[in-house]
Amino acid sequence: MVGIVKIKNFILSPLIKWIIMHPKIMESKLFLKAMFIFPSKISKTYDEKMVGSGQDLHKAMDQGLRRIFNKPQKILDLCTGTGFASLEVAKVFPLSSIDAIDQITEMLDIARKKARESGIQNIDFKVENAAKLNYEDNEFDLIVTSNAPIYLSEAVRVLRPGGLLLVVYSFGGEVFLHLNAEVDQYFNKNGIDLLEMKRIGNGAYALGQKINDQGGIDNANL
Ligand SMILES: C[S@@+](CC[C@H](N)C(=O)[O-])C[C@H]1O[C@@H](n2cnc3c(N)ncnc32)[C@H](O)[C@@H]1O
Repeated sequence: MVGIVKIKNFILSPLIKWIIMHPKIMESKLFLKAMFIFPSKISKTYDEKMVGSGQDLHKAMDQGLRRIFNKPQKILDLCTGTGFASLEVAKVFPLSSIDAIDQITEMLDIARKKARESGIQNIDFKVENAAKLNYEDNEFDLIVTSNAPIYLSEAVRVLRPGGLLLVVYSFGGEVFLHLNAEVDQYFNKNGIDLLEMKRIGNGAYALGQKINDQGGIDNANL
């Protein structure tokens, strides 16, 4: 098991670092096409594989959500897949209005079923492309995304100044330990102040806050 984790990190670390240094790759046609084909193929077995992977699925998300300090009313979960993040968010913020988007209908069907079965009613699951969202600028107080590519510039566009961004991975935590400077730089270039990044169990979370037009944090807006 330790061997597999080491190999994963050996491959993941340079890959994640490379993607963070070259974020344009996530806007390339090839990447977007792969993101369309691959998830639709794995949608039926995705939850089973995630649970069966032996990773601490919820730890990083739970800890990250505890750090949210701005009482968000409007929340967006990007690349929700089968709804993992939005369902967790709904438990913590039952009175907030949550939009959860993904471009794969099959994934969203599973997410809707899970929400229905849990009696959760404050999530609206929508088909959307995270790289080109049909939302106005500055609409959301909190954006979360888990175990997915980060379409950062588009996320920042729809996040209001002072709003929070929570990026969570339930695997590869070891990798992020060594990427603090890169993530800080990547966030900063996109108008996000990195508040903290923590390894939790097998995963990690990064919490950031959108900088206002004057280059500061608008605390009155919290
Ligand atoms: C590995 S899954 C993660 C799902 C979920 N967030 C979780 O933590 O279990 C990645 C998801 O990102 C979605 N995705 C990737 N690129 C996307 C894009 N450009 N627009 C919308 N969804 C996208 C995929 O369809 C897939 O459901």
